[in-house]
Amino acid sequence: MRGASRLAGLANALRVVRFRLLSDCRRVSGSPVRLQPVLICGRGRVVIGHGVVFGWPTSGGFRGGYCHIEAASNDSTVEIGDGAWINNNAVIKSEGPGIRIAAGALIGSGVRIYDSDFHDLTPGRRHDGSPRMGAVEIGEGSFIGDAVIVLKGVRIGANSVIGAGSVVTRSIPANAVAAGNPARVVRSLAQPPAPRAQGQGADSCNSPPASAAHRAAAPGPAPVGCGGIA
Ligand SMILES: CC(C)(COP(=O)(O)OP(=O)(O)OC[C@H]1O[C@@H](n2cnc3c(N)ncnc32)[C@H](O)[C@@H]1OP(=O)(O)O)[C@@H](O)C(=O)NCCC(=O)NCCS
Repeated sequence: MRGASRLAGLANALRVVRFRLLSDCRRVSGSPVRLQPVLICGRGRVVIGHGVVFGWPTSGGFRGGYCHIEAASNDSTVEIGDGAWINNNAVIKSEGPGIRIAAGALIGSGVRIYDSDFHDLTPGRRHDGSPRMGAVEIGEGSFIGDAVIVLKGVRIGANSVIGAGSVVTRSIPANAVAAGNPARVVRSLAQPPAPRAQGQGADSCNSPPASAAHRAAAPGPAPVGCGGIA
């Protein structure tokens, strides 16, 4: 058993190195903790703050997946603030005015963040037209649930929570809980959640230890359940 987990750890470490070698972005600053492989590509600029972590071993899709960070054009930028935690298989792709994830944000597994439509909407101009673009900002201390898609021009305010699977097409204010497709504010964080019938409580994925773990400067042993952040 121990041998098997050592072997899995070694295989993962090799994948991390392989994806570093495959990363072709030459304008990267910062040294994140890569628990999962990270591909960083494109001609733009990628700025990664202190204590940023990619991946979490006990969240879904850890083995075999990778995080994709791309600043496609010369002018595009992806910035990830200090202590942000990006869970497995995130795709963060800029070809426009940029994507900024502020300090301490928690980004769930399989999240996608785009600052462009990447193709013109006009038929016949999909490959050579001008896609619409807009800067994206993910606020300080926000919590973006698993499989959320954040589209061009969206600003998510500080501390806000975006429900799992939501598609965020318009900006969300600070200190709000928003969810759905398209994502709408369902309540303010100042309001308590609606009471629930017994047995419908929070699960281990979004219970308090999650936020405690995310604040740790360096990742410790993986907690049980969904892991430290998401
Ligand atoms: C957004 C979230 C935090 C809200 O939790 P909550 O405050 O307990 O809110 P409730 O469950 O009471 O839901 C409030 C309303 O929002 C809706 N809602 C909640 N989450 C939703 C989601 N992900 N998508 C769509 N609607 C959602 C509920 O149906 C409810 O609507 P109603 O008032 O019409 O019945 C939670 O639902 C969620 O998505 N958590 C993220 C989980 C995750 O991805 N964790 C990372 C992996 S461990």
